[in-house]
Amino acid sequence: MDKFVYQYPVRQYFGKGCAEEAIKEELKNAGENILLAYGGGSLKRTGLYDRIRSWLAECGKCVTDFGGIMPNPTYRKVQEGARLVRENDIDFILAVGGGSVIDCCKIVSAQSRLDEDIWDMWYDHHRLPTDFVQMGAVVTASGTGAEQNNGAVITHEEKKLKQPLFGAYHSFAVLDSDLTRTLPMKQVISGVFDTLSHCMETYMGKPQATNLSDEINEAVMRNVVKNLRALIANPDDDFARGELMWASAMAESGMLKLGKQTDFQCHMIEHAVGAYTDCNHGQGLAVIHPTLYRRMIGYGTEKLVRMAETVWGVKGETAEETAARGIDALESFIKEVGLPTHWSQMGITDESVLRAAADTCFLMPGCCKQFSRDEIFEILKERM
Ligand code: NZQ
Ligand code: ZN
Repeated sequence: MDKFVYQYPVRQYFGKGCAEEAIKEELKNAGENILLAYGGGSLKRTGLYDRIRSWLAECGKCVTDFGGIMPNPTYRKVQEGARLVRENDIDFILAVGGGSVIDCCKIVSAQSRLDEDIWDMWYDHHRLPTDFVQMGAVVTASGTGAEQNNGAVITHEEKKLKQPLFGAYHSFAVLDSDLTRTLPMKQVISGVFDTLSHCMETYMGKPQATNLSDEINEAVMRNVVKNLRALIANPDDDFARGELMWASAMAESGMLKLGKQTDFQCHMIEHAVGAYTDCNHGQGLAVIHPTLYRRMIGYGTEKLVRMAETVWGVKGETAEETAARGIDALESFIKEVGLPTHWSQMGITDESVLRAAADTCFLMPGCCKQFSRDEIFEILKERM
């Protein structure tokens, strides 16, 4: 294992029906002025908005709404949130939603306390913010694990970039599986695939030797595959729903990343495609993963073999054959759960977009193979 320091600042409230008690408990000690952040409409449609407003009223809070946060949140939306925080003297940001709402708030929390532009601060001057408005996350769509870390993925529309920015950690995360019951199954599935991708991207990093984090990771991956099948078979399976929610949190809590360098090349490619197409994150990952991994045979073979055997239960005559069978099993799973395997299934038919994504994505040092931009373009083009 490589050296590490591990500290974890997010208090976790897990369990079916835990939201009301958790929110009241946390908010009673927060300041009076709350920014209630949410997405494009589901919160009001499901009735959760009214419930949360009544809980906040019981706690004596003055609430400012910050709605309309879109999937793949934009830099412009971050600036709108930061303005609201300043104008309303906000003490606490309550993010209620999926990864998009939760990410957007992390950067709002930092930008509202800065005189300079947070994008330039990081990408031009490599400085991180240090002052934040406190916040907490109530997860209504799990999979990204965004409530567990201080990274946020923000789309800068003018620059045509979808890239990470860093803000604060949420001081608490509410993981109440009841709140995810209204999420359409298609979105549930892409979220769960995102979790599986986080696990694989962490597992495939360097070094190839398997450490304790990797062995825990194998258990999480098996659990994710098993429980997604169970939830598709029975959407009322609350046990499976809860397991998937905690697996999502586990994958991004840092625990699986200890003592190693992560890969995340697939994510960086998908984010670049997302910058040009605004595509669904989990679906984009599903298209890229199998082709990318086939090009890693011969470089990350040891880990691909272990993943084939321990997660997918397949084996071949040689290490390369076992690795290939594991990737085939991954692709069969993608098809089985109804995720796309080609860009055309997601409405992406313009090859120049894939070229632009290959030319602008980050190339990751933790990946077992250093891909050239032409190779990445080939990988993307193969799935037109
Ligand atoms: O906007 P509303 O109307 O609320 O609808 C949302 C949205 O359309 C809907 N939804 C959420 N909860 C619901 C619900 N609909 C009905 N019932 C509910 N309970 O779901 C749709 C998708 O929401 P979104 O938050 O965009 O999805 P997800 O959680 O997959 O987040 C995706 C974003 O997270 C980033 C992605 O790149 C993408 O921008 N990621 C963040 C990560 C992080 N910070 O660690 C890691 C990931 O790798 C990922 O990159
Ligand atoms: Zn992801």
